[in-house]
Amino acid sequence: MARILTGIQSTGIPHLGNILGAIKPAIDMSNDSKNDSFLFIADMHSLTAIKDAGVLRENTYTVAAAWLAFGLDVNKTVFYRQSDVPEVTELTWYLSCFTPYPMLANAVSFKDKLDRLSEVNAGVFLYPVLMAADIILYDANYVPVGKDQLQHLEITRDITSAFNNHYGETFVMPEPKISEQVMIIPGIDGQKMSKSYNNIINIFLPENDLRKNVMKIVTDAKTVEEPKNPDTCNVFKIYSLLADKDKIEEMRNNYLRGGMGYGQAKETLFVTIMEKYNKERALYNHYMSNIDELDKQLKIGADKARIVASATLKRVRKAIGYS
Ligand code: TRP
Repeated sequence: MARILTGIQSTGIPHLGNILGAIKPAIDMSNDSKNDSFLFIADMHSLTAIKDAGVLRENTYTVAAAWLAFGLDVNKTVFYRQSDVPEVTELTWYLSCFTPYPMLANAVSFKDKLDRLSEVNAGVFLYPVLMAADIILYDANYVPVGKDQLQHLEITRDITSAFNNHYGETFVMPEPKISEQVMIIPGIDGQKMSKSYNNIINIFLPENDLRKNVMKIVTDAKTVEEPKNPDTCNVFKIYSLLADKDKIEEMRNNYLRGGMGYGQAKETLFVTIMEKYNKERALYNHYMSNIDELDKQLKIGADKARIVASATLKRVRKAIGYS
């Protein structure tokens, strides 16, 4: 059985792009009984950027609530909060002593942050080593990540072989698993949906706010009567990702025929979202108003994760000469 592990950034409530592009595929994969899957919320990585305790805590909960609402089963997936397994910081130190300084200094994501951020702390610099520890600590075979994380995986593999070459086979060599069908979900302005572009659809908003969110989707200025092009319209593109086939066809015909305004198309999209995600919205709200239940679910994962983590650390300490 292959162990598949991945970390999720906790940067706030997951949006429709995260849900369709990451959450749904990851949950499908973890429900496949051929896989032994580990999934964690990378809240220690978040500290490189987020110093507000309330925000940090809230971000972990919104992410956890969203994943659970979409059917993540904690009995099938080891689902935990990175900071609940402090063993990872100990391993980070050991690994950092096997990480060439220039490898981190030349990492693209680090150089990019050097250019962009006003304050660059050492955590930003060590980010890839903490990530390597996340992976190595759990003997992961495969690590599903986006293309932007590929270099971090290469660093992880380099550190793994440096350690193994020196002390003998101590760690499992992980392999990246890049998802090929990178689904690009358009945001309300037509660019890729992303928090940093301020163009997200947040399906977990209260009904009226969600309607307003959908009504903000950018369209051209065609009148109700005019025929419209569905293939260049953001409303139609998003609708096509959510509705059933025959409904999509019906909508396409309404565009081509004319007589349907964008307001009406948006209202149909809004109703579709409300219906499609009715159960998930309710579950999300349930978890967000019962934080102790969320904590309980995360603890199930943390307990399982710590068992694997302490076994790995035992091996490492012995190899290094501490026991
Ligand atoms: N850095 C990853 C990201 O930005 C998140 C992450 C942290 C991760 N630790 C990991 C991903 C370990 C895979 C494995 O998306």
